[in-house]
Amino acid sequence: MSGRGKGVLAGSGATEGERDHEVLLSAVRPLTEWYRKNKRDLPWRNQADAYHIWVSEIMLQQTRVEAVKSYYARFLKELPNVKALAEVDEEQLLKLWEGLGYYNRVRNMQKAARQIMDVHHGEFPCTYEEIRALAGIGNYTAGAVASFAFGIPKPAVDGNVLRVVSRLLCSEEDVMKAGVRKRFEREIEAVIPSEAASDFNQGLIELGALVCVPNGAPKCGECPLAGTCLARETGCQGQLPVKKKAKERRIEKRTVFIFRDGRAVAIKKRPAKGLLAGLYELPNVFGHLDGEAAIAYSKSIGLTPVRVKELEAAKHVFSHVEWHMIGYEMLVDELEKNCSDWMVFADGGELEDKYPIPTAFSAYTDIAKGNGRSS
Ligand code: ADE
Repeated sequence: MSGRGKGVLAGSGATEGERDHEVLLSAVRPLTEWYRKNKRDLPWRNQADAYHIWVSEIMLQQTRVEAVKSYYARFLKELPNVKALAEVDEEQLLKLWEGLGYYNRVRNMQKAARQIMDVHHGEFPCTYEEIRALAGIGNYTAGAVASFAFGIPKPAVDGNVLRVVSRLLCSEEDVMKAGVRKRFEREIEAVIPSEAASDFNQGLIELGALVCVPNGAPKCGECPLAGTCLARETGCQGQLPVKKKAKERRIEKRTVFIFRDGRAVAIKKRPAKGLLAGLYELPNVFGHLDGEAAIAYSKSIGLTPVRVKELEAAKHVFSHVEWHMIGYEMLVDELEKNCSDWMVFADGGELEDKYPIPTAFSAYTDIAKGNGRSS
């Protein structure tokens, strides 16, 4: 496999840098043609509305293409343009994002929409530099919006592209390193065709999603770039890209409570800062409480359960932490009469439509809404 950079390759006068440039340059035409013939028909394609593209790209950073489709349609129906996003109430915005995770991303989208209203008179900016200057927009998103919406030849290097390029160049460098990503960006930028920036960039992404796939054997038999792929030549495509192991996640134990009376379920708003800031949650405490301790806790907040049911354990994985949860459903006499002032009382419909509750709790919110397995 390749080391990197300036060294002269054995048996040829070319440096590695020059060889990489040749390989990428020779990919431009076959990749662009392949994309035009083979691209999936996705709702955010075949149009060039920068706002639509931006929304889809932020969503695609969070979840799979299939899952994005319904979020994308609902988001644009509720917030059809930058002005609507800039003006929407935060809770309604978070509700539209419920289940996608990384809620700061959608908060940043609202900040960016307000920047567009204030600085660009409501018109989505059309230069790479102005797009890159918007809140929450990094190199990838700026390159994607600039090239897909405006045909600007700037790179859009996501995980798909890192995989495709590290295989094409047979690079064993760690693609988790910012320096490696930056170099790939420079090398791609040097070959993006100015008349087909969108199709070329989307072609790299699509090839990574459909052919040069992760986890297991890439489908080299279907690949338009198989003839020039250096990893394929040496048979090392299955070992690439090299990704340094992520740091181990911290494990947090939690006990989650569904306090209900005949009418409502208690929820509370999370603090304005930190993980899942400003969203709602089922009441919960650190640690795994046994039944006795759980009843003692509920009494300590003014609720005396008349029936207690232990719920199944559940796990939720965030990027840096894992929640290992156990839960109790507690039927109490009358929530509102007895309860502390930090609680909000929501019926099934409000849990569904009004309050944004993170997916981390979904094993228990499904039960709270009456959709899950319980009493
Ligand atoms: N992943 C990231 N951007 C994408 C796009 N525009 N289409 C499909 N998958 C993607």
